[in-house]
Amino acid sequence: ALPDARHVALSPLSGLPASRPAGCPFDPPDALGRLRTERPLRRMRYPDGHLGWLATGHSVIRAIAGDPRFSSRYELLHHPLPYEGTPEIGPAPVGDMTGIDPPHHTRYRRLLMGKFTVRRMRALTERVAQVVAEHLDAMERQGPAVDLVTAYAYPVPALMICELLGVPVADRDRFQRQAAAVFRTDAPVAEQFAALSALQELIGELVVAKRARPTDDLLSDLTTTNLTDEELAGLGGFLLAAGLDTTANMLALGTFALLEHPEQAAALRADPGLADQAVEELMRYLTIAHTGARAALADVELDGQLIRAGETVTLSLQAANRDPQRFPDPDTLDLQRKAIGHLAFGHGSHQCLGQQLARVEMRVAFPALFTRFPTLRLAVPREEVPLRTDSDIHGVESLPVTWDTEEP
Ligand code: HEM
Repeated sequence: ALPDARHVALSPLSGLPASRPAGCPFDPPDALGRLRTERPLRRMRYPDGHLGWLATGHSVIRAIAGDPRFSSRYELLHHPLPYEGTPEIGPAPVGDMTGIDPPHHTRYRRLLMGKFTVRRMRALTERVAQVVAEHLDAMERQGPAVDLVTAYAYPVPALMICELLGVPVADRDRFQRQAAAVFRTDAPVAEQFAALSALQELIGELVVAKRARPTDDLLSDLTTTNLTDEELAGLGGFLLAAGLDTTANMLALGTFALLEHPEQAAALRADPGLADQAVEELMRYLTIAHTGARAALADVELDGQLIRAGETVTLSLQAANRDPQRFPDPDTLDLQRKAIGHLAFGHGSHQCLGQQLARVEMRVAFPALFTRFPTLRLAVPREEVPLRTDSDIHGVESLPVTWDTEEP
């Protein structure tokens, strides 16, 4: 028998609420908050007809993401939004770590974990500061009035991930163009997949080169393990993809959020020591990766309800990070808050592998931008900033900004 019949009274929700409140580019859909208050784990009918679950509460999402009775395998998951182009979600392509389970996943994770430690990533701080300063110099020469996405938010993480992987300088433009094609949200899914395979082909060539002549970088390091060339190319492409679009969108959307909260930007400018916790709060507030997903491998009792083996649970990371039970006054951006425990990097065995790299980049890039351009502001009315609407990763398509130049 079901341990609790209360949920029977709630008819299944039909699909994941996805429309943001009008006029607020940063808040999750209002409906998510209402659903979380009503029941943090509830039944949801997926667009393909599957009857699964939607989790919106912080503690229930942590419990599911940390429980090995739930699988991440793509082929077991149902998609919470109408999914064009690929009606059947197949198994994860080689190297895509988010869509696989142990022991496969554990093997990749063990091989890569040591490369992304806090210590290693902190050691990159100086290099990040250099790259950031070069891009700010270029912005100053180019402006006032630049698109922050193309001038700063995209190229800084792109250069860092290329350097880390060991993409030769001469090939970087080609890599970055190809990576940008993967994330074009206005292109059909099939074209994005084609761009991804082209990118992986480029990385495949690089793997062959690194095996022949290793250099001091991540891909060369990995050629000394027992990973096959196919796995290396797959992992390289996945790291590039996972590390670039996410960090770029955090930098651009985070800047937009700070410009819309000038008192918070001023606090960061006055005290760059605030950067560490400011980054965590921006991550929580914006939660650009909206959802995670798991499929139950066994019957699991949670929150007084029974999730049956085979059922998909969509984890609304957005809703979890605005859960008032976990974060008081959750809809306020407050850089003084200790947003520790947010789920914007996920939770459990798949928690973001590159989070320390992303943190180092953001901790340097936000304060440096606002210190270099104290009068930074939007160059268009806020309603005209084009938001990404059709991607799993939230962000802006472009962010026109301007600033005052000093009197000659
Ligand atoms: C996984 C978010 C930056 C590499 C994840 C997951 C989230 C996430 C939510 C968990 C997915 C799940 O549970 O299924 C972000 C955000 C970033 C960021 C918001 C930037 C602000 C990066 C960077 C890298 C990276 C810079 C690497 C260079 C990965 C990898 C995984 C992952 C490899 C898969 C881990 C696994 O499945 O074991 N990321 N990420 N991410 N991320 Fe990130």
